[in-house]
Amino acid sequence: MPTETPKTIFVTGGAGYIGSHTVLELLQESYSVIVLDNLSNSSPESLSRICALLQKPITFYQGSLSKSQLLDKIFTTHKVWAVIHFAALKSAPESVEKPLDYWGVNVGGTMGLLEAMRRHGVGRLVFSSTAAVYGTPVDPTSLIPETHQTVPMNPYGRSKLAVEHLIRDLCTTTPSFGAVILRYFNPVGAHKSGKIGEDPKGQPGNLVPFVLEVVSGKRKRIDITGTDWETRDGSGVRDFIHVVDLAKGHVASLERADFLASSSSSTTTTSSPTTSPIPNYEIYNMGSGLGTSVLEIIKTMSAVTSRPIDHVAAPRRAGDVAQVVADPARANKILGWRAEMTVKDMCEDAWRFKEANPEGYTSVWEGDSSGVLGVDGRLERF
Ligand SMILES: NC(=O)c1ccc[n+]([C@@H]2O[C@H](COP(=O)([O-])OP(=O)(O)OC[C@H]3O[C@@H](n4cnc5c(N)ncnc54)[C@H](O)[C@@H]3O)[C@@H](O)[C@H]2O)c1
Repeated sequence: MPTETPKTIFVTGGAGYIGSHTVLELLQESYSVIVLDNLSNSSPESLSRICALLQKPITFYQGSLSKSQLLDKIFTTHKVWAVIHFAALKSAPESVEKPLDYWGVNVGGTMGLLEAMRRHGVGRLVFSSTAAVYGTPVDPTSLIPETHQTVPMNPYGRSKLAVEHLIRDLCTTTPSFGAVILRYFNPVGAHKSGKIGEDPKGQPGNLVPFVLEVVSGKRKRIDITGTDWETRDGSGVRDFIHVVDLAKGHVASLERADFLASSSSSTTTTSSPTTSPIPNYEIYNMGSGLGTSVLEIIKTMSAVTSRPIDHVAAPRRAGDVAQVVADPARANKILGWRAEMTVKDMCEDAWRFKEANPEGYTSVWEGDSSGVLGVDGRLERF
């Protein structure tokens, strides 16, 4: 936790689902926050609500990662202590249709960010990666450790793995750089306040927003793609993690990135718990270590909302697997972090946000929204 003057964290993609929950946790831990987001999949209302909830300001830049002049302006104007990099395109099916977009934003955008960090001497980074980098589990009955092979099945997963390699190469040549890679499993839920939550633009790509559209009557039913897996109820099993637990994982990772940046040139590196011999680069799974089936999620959501959720069996999707569950032991041990909230908490919190915000974030923001969001949540444009 920062002392005296607050440390400033630059959060790319901070208006989005996981980014906004992380911004909230950072502010609660007394960091100061600068957000860059092009709002391609989010609304600045998430940030505005956080300001009003916590009575703290956020500096917001509306713009793209690919604008090097904007990045220079941000790094020149603010004394950035560390970067948390969420901004990306994230739909695996869409990435199959638009591979160039995914490589351009996810890899090209990250290259621009890393170049700017180097130009401005900022050397602490936490990066959003994904369990999709693993591909099909070698043993579907076992937990997946960070040392599992990485054979991603789609352009999205490949673009994230490429960024991991890019950051690793930068760490190799720049010992003063410290990077923590977080591979998320399935983030679900919302902040307890019901003020911020998951509000995807267009058709939801994840299970829970889809289920909630059935609960709220926007969709008739949900297809269970694959009901003949070798799992306890035949539906796929995944590792669901509450988004607030995940957000706290980022806060824990900041101090780790600082440690890596400051100690990588020392001789303690052989005992460093990395998955690679690069002493200033570490990878952690962000998961609970517990498997929950798709049908169990539907059952829990139905109980939480006291509503039936119509679902039908559908064929398996190409590339799907029976079970994908994290081994989170490394993050538990080294980061001192663990997922604490239950699937019931995830469903209750996701429903609270959906019930309070059936249409998601609805404020209309005309023009460029760059400026300072004040403690009342109002935007003072630059
Ligand atoms: N949600 C998941 O299930 C999941 C799982 C694994 C990994 N991740 C990764 O976590 C990160 C955050 O995911 P999320 O669920 O919060 O997604 P999100 O879409 O809600 O957040 C991403 C944010 O980045 C912004 N953005 C996209 N391209 C940008 C660009 N070029 N410049 C500036 N801003 C840009 C979007 O507007 C959005 O606000 C992503 O990197 C994603 O790949 C997400």
